[in-house]
Amino acid sequence: MKSDKPKKSHKAALSRRSFLKGAALTSAGAMAAVASLSHLKPAHADAPMPAGAVERLGPGPAPIELKINGEVKRLSVEPRVTLLRALREHLGMTGTKLVCDRGACGACTVLMDGRTVTSCMVLAVDARGREIVTIEGLGNPARMHPVQAAFVVADAMQCGFCTPGMVMSIAAALKRNPKAGEDEIRQSVAGNICRCGTYPHVFAAALNTARGFGAGKGNA
Ligand code: FES
Ligand code: FES
Repeated sequence: MKSDKPKKSHKAALSRRSFLKGAALTSAGAMAAVASLSHLKPAHADAPMPAGAVERLGPGPAPIELKINGEVKRLSVEPRVTLLRALREHLGMTGTKLVCDRGACGACTVLMDGRTVTSCMVLAVDARGREIVTIEGLGNPARMHPVQAAFVVADAMQCGFCTPGMVMSIAAALKRNPKAGEDEIRQSVAGNICRCGTYPHVFAAALNTARGFGAGKGNA
């Protein structure tokens, strides 16, 4: 005999299960989204940002921290300030050169998380949490990086405006491949313009450094 009690609809059970599953996924997704925003901090306060809040900076100066050459530097900059301007005008680190200010010459090259970037094209606020290395952090007159020393020996500069950027690009290339050949060296400075035409000396300095690396001397 058939029961009068209506059977639970399989379809209904499925849709209830799907609904519960969907709800769990949605709340997990929301939690993940909140977690992904949790690294964002308000510019002006130590208080944690409300979950899901969007960081707002400016238009006035905002206090930020940058890690440059292994040291944490605190400065106050408007959000429109580039990393290059922050280095030179806020921190007095003038080794990184300002030439075109539009990403065309490579004079302002620094390392950000180990990769070369033109610092005139990076906002200082976007460099927070990154490892920045400038020419000052690569070496100094008392303790030069092998590429810096090779530039001196090969007389690879005239006015010197392009030189820090060239050195940073070559140091990064030789760190990637300590035995880089001339093609790779040329490629690494393709974005570095020298108006004085020192290229042959620059390539000689880089290749001499590569030979030094090959012989087990120096480090990047
Ligand atoms: S000054 Fe940045 S690329 Fe020329
Ligand atoms: S040495 Fe003058 S621009 Fe390169």
